[in-house]
Amino acid sequence: MTTLTQSTTWKALQAHTSQLPHMRELFAQNPQRFDQMSVKACGLFLDYSKNRINNDTLELLFALAKEANLTDKIAAMFNGDVINNTEHRAVLHTALRSKAEQEIIAEGTNIVPEVQQTLAKMAGFVESVQSGQWKGYTGKAITDVVSIGIGGSFLGPKIVSQALRPYWHAGLNCHFVANVDATSICEKLKGLNAETTLFVMSSKSFGTQETLTNTLSAKDWFLAQGATQQDIAKHFVAVTSNVAKATEFGMDANNIFPMWDWVGGRYSLWSAIGLPIALLVGMDNFKALLDGAHQMDEHFANTPLPQNMPVIMAMLSVLYGNFHGSQSHVILTYDHYLRGLPAYFQQLDMESNGKSVTLNGTDVDYSTGPVIWGGEGTNGQHAYHQLLHQGTALIPADFIMPLQSHNPLGEHHDQLASNCFGQTQALMQGRTFEEALAELSNSKLDEQQKALIAKHKVMSGNKPSNTLLMDKLTPTTLGALIALYEHRTFVQGAIWQINSFDQWGVELGKQLGNDVLERIGADKDATELDSSSNALVNLYRQGKL
Ligand code: F6P
Repeated sequence: MTTLTQSTTWKALQAHTSQLPHMRELFAQNPQRFDQMSVKACGLFLDYSKNRINNDTLELLFALAKEANLTDKIAAMFNGDVINNTEHRAVLHTALRSKAEQEIIAEGTNIVPEVQQTLAKMAGFVESVQSGQWKGYTGKAITDVVSIGIGGSFLGPKIVSQALRPYWHAGLNCHFVANVDATSICEKLKGLNAETTLFVMSSKSFGTQETLTNTLSAKDWFLAQGATQQDIAKHFVAVTSNVAKATEFGMDANNIFPMWDWVGGRYSLWSAIGLPIALLVGMDNFKALLDGAHQMDEHFANTPLPQNMPVIMAMLSVLYGNFHGSQSHVILTYDHYLRGLPAYFQQLDMESNGKSVTLNGTDVDYSTGPVIWGGEGTNGQHAYHQLLHQGTALIPADFIMPLQSHNPLGEHHDQLASNCFGQTQALMQGRTFEEALAELSNSKLDEQQKALIAKHKVMSGNKPSNTLLMDKLTPTTLGALIALYEHRTFVQGAIWQINSFDQWGVELGKQLGNDVLERIGADKDATELDSSSNALVNLYRQGKL
């Protein structure tokens, strides 16, 4: 039993949440609700009024945050304390977007100079490639970048590049390879010209099977196109914290961009892992991305909890997960460029907070990280919104939308916005039986049929949502948005007293996978595993059912 669930505040929240009126009533009681439950920061605007809260709820949630010593924990992260207690590391992705004049000490060293040196190395390389000065082995400029990496070494570069498509440098294209399924790399290499292709191999550990295999296959492809071993240095660069392994692998020492142990993979896009982003959008826009995140860092570190955007969003998620039994959270991006963001937030949140022991190893007796999922609006309205409106699960939703489109065209953006706002309204107010019946008053159905259909049209409402707006999707607002969710994840982990920065849960699958790989390649069928695994391995070995 943890002290958290025994606390007075926790018990008060349990009692309080069960007696709160329907949101319809909360809006009717207080015409100022929107004004009092919205906050603006770093170019973002958060409307959190469509939540199952009143002022008492918020007071209790912020009290819970205070009892978790949240302010001290935030300071400890920014100060470079070793808060990743199982890997004995500081957590300093914030240092990656710090200003050159800052001093941030990690393990006794001011790390800002090496961050700045790496940014300068990136800038020189990006300029060289974009200007055409960097030539391939036949003297041609680079036209295509193939980014090879997985997890945080893939999602950040891929999704941020996708989100910033309006800012891409003309003449450069980028292809992302992550999965070890050969289809991924084969499809991406089709039609590319080795003479004008640059491979960026990104792996913090330089030990990830998928990335190493894909890089070796990329090298084979490159040499099969007529290039020689000496040409590798013109077409392969690496981003890693394991420079020795990269050099041993054959990467040219000058083409290795460093990163550091105090940057978690799912928090690393701000480091040289973001090199594909910078190659595509240029260093000025990459620095604007960093600056947006830095602005959110300053907001997070210096704003009192009740006005602190990441804290508000995190505590609302704690409210639903720990006091309303919700098990998942949906991210709905009403912007086509942001269509990949839910997948990015999946790794960020689920690999950080998918834990079940506290920092000191005590089993939790409360829910921790929810399932994060989602997609682009309005597509989801024609796929899973039925469940959001009339399903049995409570699934809090974040709606994210820029007020201005990069592609203004007729009524399109008006319709997008009206769908976005209409959905949050429908989730909140629902539809009563009486309203449903009234809507059928002119139908030709008999009274019994009307009552039946009306029953099926009832929507309980009281379904919570946040609406996050920005003027326009730019590198700066995108940086602030992603940093917002990073800090939201941090706050939840602080409340749950878990380590959000290790990922021991991914190790066993990798180990067993390596064992299975050996059995697949063995000279006899597998017999030592469980009957299912033996059978599956042997079916694969025979290659047919
Ligand atoms: O999924 C485990 C993980 O270590 C992630 O945390 C990380 O982003 C990914 O694998 C890739 O790791 P690396 O960058 O070391 O190849």
